[in-house]
Amino acid sequence: MALADLDQVLEIEAQVSVAPWSRRNFESSLHSHNQCWVLCKNNDLVGYAVLSLVADEAELLLIGIAREAQGHGFGRLLLLHILDCAQKLNARAVFLEVRASNHVAQSLYASEGFNEVGVRPAYYPAKKGREDAVIMALEF
Ligand SMILES: CC(C)(COP(=O)(O)OP(=O)(O)OC[C@H]1O[C@@H](n2cnc3c(N)ncnc32)[C@H](O)[C@@H]1OP(=O)(O)O)[C@@H](O)C(=O)NCCC(=O)NCCS
Repeated sequence: MALADLDQVLEIEAQVSVAPWSRRNFESSLHSHNQCWVLCKNNDLVGYAVLSLVADEAELLLIGIAREAQGHGFGRLLLLHILDCAQKLNARAVFLEVRASNHVAQSLYASEGFNEVGVRPAYYPAKKGREDAVIMALEF
């Protein structure tokens, strides 16, 4: 991901995220040590992901696939790439948080070996009230 990708990334993020990251969030991620990736098909940017690494623990902060491109294997492709990056950076494990209602993402993560390791009650603002975060982890 480069600064020049941000217009397209922000457009997708606004489409697919309940609480979208701002341009500033992406800029500071790009200026940090985070791993920031985009996935392109031909010349179209179809998805993005951000991974942070602290000591030997990685955290998948964000993953999104454009709505019209969802369900065609791009999310899995990007996740596998991110897991490969984490392994190459010597991470011992990858953690992530996902909304309790987000069964699509949870089933993708579970199918790649993530296990549920905890719940943060009422963690996310939701359309009505608040929603739990499910914490998932994959150990290499
Ligand atoms: C979650 C997300 C990244 C998955 O990407 P995707 O490209 O749509 O997913 P894929 O086509 O690679 O499918 C991977 C798996 O997800 C699950 N899945 C995908 N679409 C699904 C659907 N409509 N219903 C149920 N499960 C589905 C399946 O387990 C699928 O595996 P399978 O094809 O072997 O059955 C994408 O849907 C997305 O951007 N969602 C909005 C943002 C988001 O929720 N991000 C994650 C926050 S933690």
